[in-house]
Amino acid sequence: MSVPAMNRALVAVSILMTCCTCPAVPLSEHPLPTIESRNGRFQLMVDDHPFLILGGQVHNSTTADEARYDCACAALEKIQANTAFVPLYWELLEPQEGQFDFTLVERAVLKARAHRLRVVLLWFGAWKNGAMHYAPEWVKRDKARFPRVIGARGEELPVLSPLADAARLADAAAFRAMLGHLRQMDASDRTVVMVQVENETGFLGTDRDYSSAGTKCFQSSVPQELTACLADHRAALSAPLANAWGENGNRSTGTWAEVFGDMGAEACTGWNIARHVESVVAAGKEEYPLPMYANAWLAEGNGERAGVWPSGGPNENMLDLWKCAAPHLDFLAPDIYTPRFTEVCAAYARPDNPLLIPEVSFDPYYPAFAFTAFARFDALAYSVFGIDDVFKASEPFKSSNGQDPPGMDETYPAVVQLARVYAILRPLLPLIARRQCTGTLFPVVQNVCEGADAPVTIRLGDKLAAKVTYTVKFDEEKQRGAGMIVKLAKDEFLIAGMGFETVFRELEGPPRDAEILSIDAGTFTNGQWTPQGRLNGDEQHLSLPESGRILRVKLLR
Ligand code: DGJ
Repeated sequence: MSVPAMNRALVAVSILMTCCTCPAVPLSEHPLPTIESRNGRFQLMVDDHPFLILGGQVHNSTTADEARYDCACAALEKIQANTAFVPLYWELLEPQEGQFDFTLVERAVLKARAHRLRVVLLWFGAWKNGAMHYAPEWVKRDKARFPRVIGARGEELPVLSPLADAARLADAAAFRAMLGHLRQMDASDRTVVMVQVENETGFLGTDRDYSSAGTKCFQSSVPQELTACLADHRAALSAPLANAWGENGNRSTGTWAEVFGDMGAEACTGWNIARHVESVVAAGKEEYPLPMYANAWLAEGNGERAGVWPSGGPNENMLDLWKCAAPHLDFLAPDIYTPRFTEVCAAYARPDNPLLIPEVSFDPYYPAFAFTAFARFDALAYSVFGIDDVFKASEPFKSSNGQDPPGMDETYPAVVQLARVYAILRPLLPLIARRQCTGTLFPVVQNVCEGADAPVTIRLGDKLAAKVTYTVKFDEEKQRGAGMIVKLAKDEFLIAGMGFETVFRELEGPPRDAEILSIDAGTFTNGQWTPQGRLNGDEQHLSLPESGRILRVKLLR
């Protein structure tokens, strides 16, 4: 037995002898993961160190298929991700009311741990993509006890009403039970670092509930608690809700339509859903207070109305309302399947909300945005949706012991691009985590604002700029130049990424390139720079091949 393990065992024995009433939870050398916030800077602390998540989310049904899940974990390990985003299903956790089956909780954690991954658990409870598909049968069958939302034409929707206490209490009880079991089995290791509560909440198909209870709620007064909270944060509100509230006179009382105008129906819906989620989170945190967040299906739809996207979810319209209604949530997170990536990041990265991207499209256009997320928006996580897709579709998921996973599909450009980006980022994560919010990280991403292949100039401070020229032809189906420049000191930089070359330009004195003292290729091992060779003579240029590279350069300044 190792010394720390022996110490742990001794402490456990002595505590058991002196404290018979303590819950039987393994003692942990590992502190609880937390989100720390200081002066608008957020860090996810894991084992007392800032931790950035380079992740992948498995497909919706993968946790239920042991072989497939094992292969998905193997794939994540292979592409150098450090975290799996893994769904748990209320219907399978509580097939009969009050009877719990924790098989999938254990599988989700133990398989990932075997592949040296951390886990973010996703609670598919009362909501999944604006509907109730993961509620257990006993909930779906009992419409009197668990009423459904009614649409504008009087039609019943597959959405549980958040106005029904029974649904909220049942959802919260199941979530609490899941977390209780998780605490028992994982508090000693902390494989699970965070929990997503529900999935893309909202009412899909209607802006509000048109049942009599829903209409009564819509026609009643907006809770003063909400308008007072919005007033307290007036200077910092996001534009959509601030505008809707302002256009109607920033009223502190009135019906939902009087206070928020056209956004009233979505606001009423959002408030009721967020209050439901708040109860679920509060119950879960009482049991095991891991960091928790809610994710959003964004309000996309070119001038459409709420209901086209799940009305009332934590989308850009509803951020402040959710902040007021669900204070136990640590933050709100966007699922990004839109090219307006930077705009969405800017909406969610706020002084009161860190950016974490639990889902981003698995498409070759997107992996480069991981640099934008970490370097420009100080993101805590970047996670691709549907990581099982890295495998060749033609090969079966053979084993559940990780011996024989199918091969990765290297003909699929998204796989190649993702693997390259993650290979560059993984060794840099500790450094990036330390340097976020310090103004020393500069993302480089081809085709953002400047036009596909045009060179860009990035001001690095200290009278210095980097002129970046892309060496790959932009092809949104295949590849793009991408990476980041890290300013280590006034005269020392890392250039990491693929498909671009850099020339440093002095911004003081006569126009000229900065003089290079040395260039080393290398990487980081356990946070320490590991040089792989000096580049000089014919190789003395700052060019990153398509396959990716990390260079460390010193300038004479
Ligand atoms: C977003 C959802 O959150 C996921 O669970 C999944 O359904 C994807 N959409 C599919 O694109």
